[in-house]
Amino acid sequence: MDLLAFEKSLIALFVAVTAAIVVSKLRGKRLRLPPGPIPVPVFGNWLQVGDDLNHRNLSALARRYGDALLLRMGQRNLVVVSSPSLAREVLHTQGVEFGSRTRNVVFDIFTGKGQDMVFTVYGEHWRKMRRIMTVPFFTNKVVQQYRAGWEDEAGRVVDDVRADVRAGTEGVVLRRRLQLMMYNNMYRIMFDRRFESEEDPLFLRLKELNWERSRLAQSFDYNYGDFIPILRPFLRGYLKICKEVKERRLQLFKDYFLEERKKLSSTKATDNSKLKCAIDHILDAQKKGEINEDNVLYIVENINVAAIETTLWSIEWGVAELVNHPEIQQKLRQEIDDVLGPGVQVTEPDTHRLPYLQAVIKETLRLRMAIPLLVPHMNLNEAKLGGYDIPAESKILVNAWWLANNPSSWKNPEEFRPERFLEEEAKVEANGNDFRYLPFGVGRRSCPGIILALPILGITIGRLVQNFELLPPPGHKKIDTSEKGGQFSLHILKHSTIVAKPRA
Ligand code: HEM
Repeated sequence: MDLLAFEKSLIALFVAVTAAIVVSKLRGKRLRLPPGPIPVPVFGNWLQVGDDLNHRNLSALARRYGDALLLRMGQRNLVVVSSPSLAREVLHTQGVEFGSRTRNVVFDIFTGKGQDMVFTVYGEHWRKMRRIMTVPFFTNKVVQQYRAGWEDEAGRVVDDVRADVRAGTEGVVLRRRLQLMMYNNMYRIMFDRRFESEEDPLFLRLKELNWERSRLAQSFDYNYGDFIPILRPFLRGYLKICKEVKERRLQLFKDYFLEERKKLSSTKATDNSKLKCAIDHILDAQKKGEINEDNVLYIVENINVAAIETTLWSIEWGVAELVNHPEIQQKLRQEIDDVLGPGVQVTEPDTHRLPYLQAVIKETLRLRMAIPLLVPHMNLNEAKLGGYDIPAESKILVNAWWLANNPSSWKNPEEFRPERFLEEEAKVEANGNDFRYLPFGVGRRSCPGIILALPILGITIGRLVQNFELLPPPGHKKIDTSEKGGQFSLHILKHSTIVAKPRA
């Protein structure tokens, strides 16, 4: 940033402040906006509330201002929804009105301005993408086709950990091996491929680029340029890095996965009776002219972040809670032994016969939601919510974590207690049948991956607990479960060392 640009920005800032004051005085139309802290010109509430609008800070604001509150973040309107009835309104009753997505300057880059499925506005393109992705990814047939693969991958994790003597004594960072497993679970579906080891060079490049993408997108560092457009020149360097990462990443998907698959299907006679992998279906849609090559790449992009990271974080949280609650871990182990018999390895159909396992997973997703604010929604046009006017193109955050952790509707919500899902909350499912519990959202923009995520979580956590005693490392009573939030993600801050002591 040179001096001239800096001076220009200061002048522009001054002009914008003056203009904002004049416009606000002259504006005739009075909207009945949701309550919130009083904004100042240009910055809005940004200086008062800061950058880190995580689920906990937002629930504190909701307690002060109410279940629908408005924050002005520079030029952007942010509406935070914090009650089950208003969540129903946004996600269900007015699902079309609030069914779009906001993208900030960084998400614009990573999604090619919404050429993907997750971040596109509600409309024709979204409908087409969701339809095209459903058959290859989001049906029970897919679960039945791939569950043996997921069981195999979880079995390999168990074998590798068992073979590593350190794992049973000083401990290992279990997450690293689970990450390889999650990539394999999804790459089997997508490309009928897997990576042999954590050192596989292609896996390492992929992992690195996905990590960079998530870090850059979830960071708060670029907020100022997103909230206050005239400050955007200062973001030039950041956005340049985003563009480079995006290019390199899409090129990697193209060169090493898409082209490979195209070659394979042109040499092999692909008759329809043979099982296709997901990308074959997606390429068929491209051949028919329904989508273009960029859309295909963005589908691969979406699966890499939406599917792999979220499920991995949830497994990691589940393991962490079980390490820190040995009595719950033992009760789960006992259930598996009792229902399956000692040594019989958990498979997908078994997970339906293991109510305590299901309860442990639900409780993990309640207390440690991977996407605690859902993926931000947006209303394209001015709308009404709870009697308030919501300006067009507001970013709508549904604080799903607070809905599931509000002491006025849950008994001791801060406690990790799976029993609640067998007792007072026995009717509550993860599919959104209760607006207090929406780990996957609900309605039009809800997570279609729930159908894959739940069995993968069940198989993985089940296998780990039935084969190992999971403990904190020597000298520690518990592992650290501090949280790290991003723009809308939540994961464990430290990838802890865990002792996995093989059962005799
Ligand atoms: C434990 C794992 C997972 C959690 C907690 C999770 C959670 C979520 C949440 C909260 C949303 C946003 C809902 C909303 O905005 O209303 C979402 C959207 C989405 N998820 Fe997941 N998800 C998980 C796994 C997966 C998997 C395995 C896949 C794919 C195989 C997937 C694909 C998607 C897609 C494509 C969307 C965007 C839907 C749309 O905009 O129409 N997710 N997920």
